[in-house]
Amino acid sequence: MGGLRGKVAVVGVGMIRFGELFDKSFTDQMQEAYLNCINSVDKGFETKMLDAAWFGQWSGGILGQGAQAGSPLASGIGNMHIPITRVENGCASGQDAVRNAAIGVASGLYDVVLALGCEKMRDKPSVESLIGVGGGGGGILGYHPSWMLGMGGPSMQALYATRQMYEHGVTQEDFSRVAVKNHYNGARCPYAHFQKEITLERAKAAPPVCWPLNLMDCCPQTDGAAAVILCKAEIAKNFTDKPVYVWGSHLGIDHANYWDKKQFVSILSTVRAAKGVFEMAGITPQDLDFAEVHDCFTNIELMHYQDMGFCEMGKGHLLLREGYWNMDGTLPVNPSGGLKAHGHPIAATGVGQICEAFWQLREEAGARQVKLNKGLGLTHNSGGPGFGTAGMHILSREL
Ligand code: COA
Repeated sequence: MGGLRGKVAVVGVGMIRFGELFDKSFTDQMQEAYLNCINSVDKGFETKMLDAAWFGQWSGGILGQGAQAGSPLASGIGNMHIPITRVENGCASGQDAVRNAAIGVASGLYDVVLALGCEKMRDKPSVESLIGVGGGGGGILGYHPSWMLGMGGPSMQALYATRQMYEHGVTQEDFSRVAVKNHYNGARCPYAHFQKEITLERAKAAPPVCWPLNLMDCCPQTDGAAAVILCKAEIAKNFTDKPVYVWGSHLGIDHANYWDKKQFVSILSTVRAAKGVFEMAGITPQDLDFAEVHDCFTNIELMHYQDMGFCEMGKGHLLLREGYWNMDGTLPVNPSGGLKAHGHPIAATGVGQICEAFWQLREEAGARQVKLNKGLGLTHNSGGPGFGTAGMHILSREL
C-alpha cells in the first residue's frame, strides 16, 4: 500500500453549530460551513482556487434532503465548473469524502480540493429517519433486513452492550461514564448540539431506550455541516504558516449482516481501518496526543479503544474509571465531545472530526485544548449496516 505522508495538507476548516436547525435549509447549512471554511484560511481563499470537490451525504433521497448527486454542492458553493463527486458510505461517509479528496491530491491530479459533509436529520422524527415509517424500512438503515423487522441503532448496539457486560464485566455505570466524559468536553465546544455537562447520577437515571442502553448512551439525531480544504503539501504555506498534514487514511470493511459476525465485543471494520492507517502513517497508538472516535453509543466508544489498539481487549472500561481517556488523561478521546455531544449528522460528523483535529493540532481548541506532545491526532467514523464501514485518518502538525 502506498502512503500519503508528505503529500497532502489541510489548510482550512469550517463547521456550523450542529443541532435542530429548523431555521436553515440544506443549502443554508452547506453555504455556512463552506464560508466558515474559506474564511478560516489564514492567507485568504477564493472559490476559483478549487480544482475538485467531494460531497459527503448519506441519506439524500430517503430523508427528502434532495441531494443524490454532487451538483447540489455546486449550488451551495457557487462553483459549477469543477468536478464534484458525492460520497455515500454509511456512517463513514464524512471520513471517506476526506479520504477521496486526499487521494485526488496525492494522485497529482488536483492541487486544491474541498470535502464537505452535510445532512438534515431532524426534519423527520428519529424513528422515521433511521428505520422508516413505523419501523418498516425505508429510512437510512432500511436496507437491512434486521431493521425491517423493527430494529434500529439502539437495539443493534444493545447486542454488543450485553456481550461487553457478559464477557468483559463492563457495567451500565461504565456506559454512563463515557456520556459524562463526552458531555464534559462538549460543554467546551461551541459547535456541539448539547453544550451542557451532565452528572453521573443524571446519566444513570436517564430513561431506558433499549436495555442496557438509556437516552444518555445514545447520540441524538441532529442537523449539521462541516467542510475542509486540502491541498498539495508543497503549496500549503501559500495558504497558511500552520498547515496540518495527512499522514494516514484508510477505510475498513466488514460484513453488513449481523448473522455473519462471529463475536459481539469488537468492530472488525474499525480493527481493519486502524491496522491500515497506523501502517500508512508509520506510527503506533502510543504516539497519539488525542483521538476523535465514533461514539454513536457509549458502549461503542469503549469497544473502539480496544479495536484501535489503544489498550488491551477488555480493559477499556477499567482505564475509563481511572480517567485515562479524559481531556487531561493519558490519551484524550473525543475532546470535542464526540457524537454524544455533537449528535450525528452522518456525513457532517466525519468532516467535523477533521475540523476538530485541525484546531487541536494548531492549539486553537480553546477550553477543550489537549496537551500536545508529538503533535499527532486520529479521527474515526464507523457504522452503516452491520457496523461494516470505518474510515480513519491520522493528522500531524509536522510534514
Ligand atoms: N443530552 C441531553 N439531552 C438529550 C440528549 C443528550 N445527549 N439526547 C436527547 N436529549 C433530549 C432532547 O433534547 C429531547 O429533549 P426535549 O424533549 O426537552 O426536547 C429529549 O431528550 C428527546 O430527544 P429526541 O431527540 O427528541 O428523542 P427521540 O425520542 O426522537 O430519539 C433516540 C431518542 C435516542 C431514540 C434517538 O436520538 C436515537 O435513535 N439515537 C441514535 C441515533 C443512531 O442510531 N444513529 C446511527 C448511529 S451509527
